[in-house]
Amino acid sequence: MMVKNMTNNVIEVTSLMKKYGDFIAVNDISFNIKKGEIFAFLGPNGAGKTTTVEIMECLKNLTIGTIKILGLDIRKNEMEVKKKIGVLPQDFNVFEWLTVFENIDYFAQMYPAHVDVDTLIEMLSLTEKKGTLFKDLSGGLKQRVGIAIALVNDPEIVFLDEPTTGLDPKARRDVWNAIKELKTRGKTVFLTTHYMDEAHFLADQVNVLHNGRIIAEGTPEDLINNHGGGNTLIMRKCSANAKNEIIKVIPDCEIEGDDILIKLPEEDGMKCMSKALSIVNRNELACEEFYVKKTTLEDVFLNLTGDKLS
Ligand SMILES: Nc1ncnc2c1ncn2[C@@H]1O[C@H](COP(=O)(O)OP(=O)(O)OP(=O)(O)O)[C@@H](O)[C@H]1O
Ligand SMILES: [Mg+2]
Repeated sequence: MMVKNMTNNVIEVTSLMKKYGDFIAVNDISFNIKKGEIFAFLGPNGAGKTTTVEIMECLKNLTIGTIKILGLDIRKNEMEVKKKIGVLPQDFNVFEWLTVFENIDYFAQMYPAHVDVDTLIEMLSLTEKKGTLFKDLSGGLKQRVGIAIALVNDPEIVFLDEPTTGLDPKARRDVWNAIKELKTRGKTVFLTTHYMDEAHFLADQVNVLHNGRIIAEGTPEDLINNHGGGNTLIMRKCSANAKNEIIKVIPDCEIEGDDILIKLPEEDGMKCMSKALSIVNRNELACEEFYVKKTTLEDVFLNLTGDKLS
């Protein structure tokens, strides 16, 4: 069936609600995703990320709402939708005692028209590990095998549910690169994460999810500009004299022990910073370290909810 899509949206979620008994896990959320975007659902444990993803993947029923994937209503076209998407579940299972090649090939054989397995292995930089048993791979390599399996049917949209949770920084970077590569190949990626740096690094669009509701949406930059509260000059290990002098000139600074925190206004941030530094310089006051702490998506989350993200 050909469906015209005038909006370039490959995913359209409208007024989605999911109840488990009386508990509302996803509460009236709507969003659209454009072709070729990396879209991040950012939220803490229990926010409703997996529930939403599994509904989109036709693995769970929705309670209220409409979801269109590639123009197809998922409730009426489940089989067709499933053919066009790839899925990396939060806890994915493969065969521990099969090699990388054998695992990917096993899943590839489920689809009559599938991507060449060696091409996938190369794309995920797994060539060297092709003959290694899955059980002997590091965490990051295992996740890359999971992503390769999600791609066996050459999907237009790939769902990755927390692809880097529990990985060390190097392994996370490797998985991030693999996800960027999906974008350069024209795939649309729906990613869930509770790592704000991951959403910031990867996503074109971020939706912040909290208790089943979307509490903010936009590009990472938009979110930081709109909800971040600006950058902060941190002056560390200051003498009592330094603290007294600074507070006289910048009365709304915060003192935390021997540290001084100065919120930099968006317009005159540089001016404010040089004012603080010149006081220290002029009076030869002791401060051991200065740096500017940039706002992150973590601050956005904290400002919006009063909670930490993870
Ligand atoms: N089958 C279920 N029955 C009842 N409650 C459920 C069920 N699945 C999930 N929930 C609840 O729904 C809420 C959302 O869960 P979900 O797994 O979607 O969160 P999440 O954002 O993916 O969290 P995490 O980051 O921990 O994976 C949680 O409170 C969870 O306990
Ligand atoms: Mg989850």
